[in-house]
Amino acid sequence: MAGGSYDSAAFLDRYSRLRERGLFEREAAAAEEHFPAGGRVLDLGCGAGRTTRPLVERGFGVVAVDLSEAMVERARAAGTGASLATADAASLPFVDDAFDAVLFSYNGIDELRPASARRRALAEVARVLAPGGRFAFSTRNKLRWLLPVPPSPTVVSRFLRFWALNGLAGTVATRYRHDPTTNSPKRVHYTDPLTQRREPGGRPRTGGLTRSVRAAVVAVRPGAVRRLRGHARVRSNGG
Ligand SMILES: C[S@@+](CC[C@H](N)C(=O)[O-])C[C@H]1O[C@@H](n2cnc3c(N)ncnc32)[C@H](O)[C@@H]1O
Repeated sequence: MAGGSYDSAAFLDRYSRLRERGLFEREAAAAEEHFPAGGRVLDLGCGAGRTTRPLVERGFGVVAVDLSEAMVERARAAGTGASLATADAASLPFVDDAFDAVLFSYNGIDELRPASARRRALAEVARVLAPGGRFAFSTRNKLRWLLPVPPSPTVVSRFLRFWALNGLAGTVATRYRHDPTTNSPKRVHYTDPLTQRREPGGRPRTGGLTRSVRAAVVAVRPGAVRRLRGHARVRSNGG
């Protein structure tokens, strides 16, 4: 299965090196606070396995998938202790209610384009989560790539990549928002600082960097409101 630019040697090496970092602090906090002990966790967009082994070591039963077969091979070679497979987040090969928690780390969901692919991924996450399940993900805030600051070669190259990909796909200004009209038994855990501070009614946690809200889903495109299996919606955040 093709994994787009993540199949390149540069990305494979970068995410293999990143594995040494393990879980980022706010990911560890999200797992500790929101993933049930010993639960079944889907590590979505696992890359070279940065988050995979730490989740296994915390006692979760982990299945890790990525669109890029080459990334999955890197994770497999590292020995994660998880079941690994290639899969598209927008079309997950799992039965309904298969997991207690899903982690889509490091802005992985922002890699799905166009916005309809993100909606499909959110619907799939809602489908594979058991009632009471948790979805933890991070997403870039809208201001991050307004200017390439600081203007280092790395930042400039990421800035250009962001605009090339999202400008064409029309996903520059998308982000995700809790839909207060739903009463889902599932939960979303946001880990993006600026975005979550703009969310109404949320409780800041973990030093103000993370918080959780009720609902399986969130917003992608202005004007879009959609029911997902009768218990959750995707709707606009107006932004
Ligand atoms: C920013 S990287 C993060 C990798 C890993 N989670 C980490 O933090 O090291 C995003 C990952 O999402 C994967 N990805 C992109 N689109 C995907 C999709 N539609 N389904 C599953 N994974 C996808 C990429 O192949 C890549 O490995």
